[in-house]
Amino acid sequence: MKKVTVHAFAGVGNLVCGFDVIGMALHAPYDVIDMELTEEPGIRIKHTDAFGLPENPGENIIGICLQAMTKAVNKPIGFKVTVQKNIKPGSGLGSSSASCAGAVVAANALLDNRFSKNELVEFALAGEIVASGGKHADNIAPAIFGGITIARPTDPVDIISLPVPSDLFVAIVHPQIEVKTADARKILPTEISMKTGVNQWANVAGLVAGIYTDDKNLIGRSLQDHVAEPYRSKLIPGYDAVIKKSMEAGALGGGISGSGPTMFMLCETEAIAAAVETCMQEVYQELKIDFKTYVTSINPEGVKIVSSE
Ligand code: HSE
Repeated sequence: MKKVTVHAFAGVGNLVCGFDVIGMALHAPYDVIDMELTEEPGIRIKHTDAFGLPENPGENIIGICLQAMTKAVNKPIGFKVTVQKNIKPGSGLGSSSASCAGAVVAANALLDNRFSKNELVEFALAGEIVASGGKHADNIAPAIFGGITIARPTDPVDIISLPVPSDLFVAIVHPQIEVKTADARKILPTEISMKTGVNQWANVAGLVAGIYTDDKNLIGRSLQDHVAEPYRSKLIPGYDAVIKKSMEAGALGGGISGSGPTMFMLCETEAIAAAVETCMQEVYQELKIDFKTYVTSINPEGVKIVSSE
């Protein structure tokens, strides 16, 4: 195999109470990465999107991940990469993780799958650390493994895949303002109280139990965040209104996707998710803030190879 094209999907980091640990992959939106293995060493990156990301491999997170991989391969190889990003950077939809995960899965296919998925997570983290200012795999792990994952922050990261509950739909609103993950991390306290900790791990336990037993009501009532949401929600105009109206429209629960400003709500039917999407649209029309909405579902697959030659 000399050339490969992959789709790298958006995801929801934190999954509300699982700060830096629990995330899930979505079906939409997704980036498209074409990659070619070259005998000439070096990494060449071209973006066909309009996000103005650097193409110098030392400054581009795809380049940083591929440099980590080529170092581990330890023989002279190169990659020619063309990237069409559709997940806006700074959206909270795991844009940097999609770039990193897409790049390492594509490169691994070109290298006859010599690395395991767990090893790919470590290569992808090299880029994610640069993008977000922290080593957390809550977006990278579902982007590579698909579905819902727990990323225990050990060294190397310990990834646990959870079952994907049946019939869950995800309504998403992305107000068109940028919140950089690195900035959204700086506003968080470095310590939490025992009370906050107890509330948080009660919700994490409830969420994981709800996922295993396919108990939608338990999933919904466990989607409460006492750690990041109290601080980050202030960066998102319309946050309270979106949550209130979505719950009135029948959503199970939801919150900030990753570090925001995107918000997501889990819903039991596609019809409820569509009604929630309408509520989200009304909030931002009233606030006169541009937005994008999606109704999608949990993607059980990670990065997908769509063609190879
Ligand atoms: N866990 C990360 C954060 C999500 O909330 O900062 C973005 O990768």
